Amino acid sequence: MTQQHPKHATPDHPIHELIAHRWSPYAYAPRPVPEADLETCLEAARWAPSSYNDQPWTFLLARRQDEAEFETMLSCLLPGNQAWAKDAGALLLTVVRRRFAHNGNPNKAAEHDIGLAVGMLVVQATELGLHVHQMIGLDAEKARQTYGVPEGHDVLTAIAIGYADTSGERTDDLAARDAKARSRRALAESVYSGRWGHPAFEERERP
Ligand SMILES: Cc1cc2nc3c(=O)[nH]c(=O)nc-3n(C[C@H](O)[C@H](O)[C@H](O)COP(=O)(O)O)c2cc1C
Repeated sequence: MTQQHPKHATPDHPIHELIAHRWSPYAYAPRPVPEADLETCLEAARWAPSSYNDQPWTFLLARRQDEAEFETMLSCLLPGNQAWAKDAGALLLTVVRRRFAHNGNPNKAAEHDIGLAVGMLVVQATELGLHVHQMIGLDAEKARQTYGVPEGHDVLTAIAIGYADTSGERTDDLAARDAKARSRRALAESVYSGRWGHPAFEERERP
């Protein structure tokens, strides 16, 4: 059997390989992402479901090879995130529109729908051999000013897309973070049935 990357999920139940081997790296190999791959990732996001098909998302993109653009977007991140996101192949900011386009009412699902669109992007990126690391740690107000984000919209998250440096040659703190295994709560702690706190699935031996 081939050895799995330490970040590979250790699922209790079978899941799709794309989901199992997705992870959020800190050590990126500093190289650009092909234009066609960026388009494919954002196309996947485009086809996400959304409440009333409102598509309350906008993405702002900065490519590594456009150095000034990349620096500008990087400067909107909090310093702790800049430290590693500087090596990404591309950066994105997600922008949420708070009200429905069709009637102007507040859209309670807007942030949910952005997350869902990004989920599609992440799976597609993984399929292309890319790694995605999302960030809430950014200066949203600075980003608003920088990009002239209009009223009724908020900058929500940032996204680093690129190539994890899995060469094993890096010995820095970022690479050390990437060596740690991923973990999750057990299903029984987050899936209930009948009443709060009552696990939906019985513990049983897998066949
Ligand atoms: C919406 C969102 C915001 C996040 N913000 C940050 C962040 O600001 N900085 C950071 O280093 N990681 C951030 N993360 C990454 C999470 O810490 C990471 O997804 C989590 O620890 C699970 O690790 P995994 O993605 O490798 O499975 C964020 C993830 C999401 C989905």
